[in-house]
Amino acid sequence: MVAGSRIVAMGHYQPSRVVTNEDLTKTLDTNDEWIRSRVGIAERRIADTETVADMAGFAAEKALAASGLTAADIDLVIVATCSSIDRCPNVATRVANKLGIAAPAAYDLNTACSGFSYAVGSADHAIRAGAARNAIVIGAEKLSDVTDWSDRKTAVLFGDGAGAAVMTGVPDGEEPGVGPVLWGSAPDKGDVLRIEGWRPYIEQEGQIVFRWATTELAPFAIEACRRAGVDPSELAAFVPHQANTRIIDGIVKRLGLSENAIVAKDLVESGNTSAASVPLALSKLIERREVPSGAPVLLFGFGGGLTYAGQVVRCP
Ligand SMILES: CC(C)(COP(=O)(O)OP(=O)(O)OC[C@H]1O[C@@H](n2cnc3c(N)ncnc32)[C@H](O)[C@@H]1OP(=O)(O)O)[C@@H](O)C(=O)NCCC(=O)NCCS
Repeated sequence: MVAGSRIVAMGHYQPSRVVTNEDLTKTLDTNDEWIRSRVGIAERRIADTETVADMAGFAAEKALAASGLTAADIDLVIVATCSSIDRCPNVATRVANKLGIAAPAAYDLNTACSGFSYAVGSADHAIRAGAARNAIVIGAEKLSDVTDWSDRKTAVLFGDGAGAAVMTGVPDGEEPGVGPVLWGSAPDKGDVLRIEGWRPYIEQEGQIVFRWATTELAPFAIEACRRAGVDPSELAAFVPHQANTRIIDGIVKRLGLSENAIVAKDLVESGNTSAASVPLALSKLIERREVPSGAPVLLFGFGGGLTYAGQVVRCP
């Protein structure tokens, strides 16, 4: 019997091409000052040849190598993405094939920017139920494929990349490392953020999304902490979806974090990578050893749907 699950290792991948705000001014009527002050982004990575599955696979390979497990141990692969162009086969089976994972349960999950926390919650439930022993959970996006590069309102916001976590069961008697997921949606507001088949580019009513994120989400983040039995003041780090530093600051103001808590702001160098943003930011915090192993970290994603999800995890 298992008591729950934990994340044992993370990995991430970003394309090598850096696109700065200055680069965007060559084709768009925009400027570095506007982008930095309104959004917080300085640069982003844009994929040339890599697909969503390629980036997901690279991130997953790194996470698996760091986990001490092998492909033979993995029996569940979940990929959170909203930008995979191919409908079939799904990204998860492509990743499994690339990594030599022979016969896992493998599915994609689309809740846009909250996808990674939804996927971690789903994998945790599968492990608790005995439907899986070890899982790889990935957030991967190639948003450059669904960006209208002539629209300054959206083109300055997004980037490409992937982050992955290896999750495993925690035996009875030990403390689980993944807290209960808090997940939900506001479907009545779904149309304010869209990538529709007939015009497959990101469109949004930016101010409505901004208002929703800054006024309605903090109580859900606090509730995710409560469900894990962790007071927000005890968090070592907060890793929210990386959409806008003003949104992050607005949520942080209401959370009651300690002064020493780290707040991830990876969007400065990565842009908004939707489902990839939380695992990318978390993987980098771990790589830079900024959060001690075992310390509580609140993950919190939000975006298209509109959807949101979060949970407290123990840092691997
Ligand atoms: C997108 C966002 C940064 C726009 O900021 P904003 O302060 O709402 O800006 P507005 O859209 O009101 O535009 C203000 C002005 O800047 C202009 N503008 C828009 N994009 C610009 C750009 N890239 N460069 C320069 N000027 C720009 C607008 O045309 C407008 O000009 P006007 O006043 O002359 O009409 C902000 O609304 C936001 O972050 N929303 C949340 C969106 C989000 O995070 N979505 C993903 C969630 S997962």
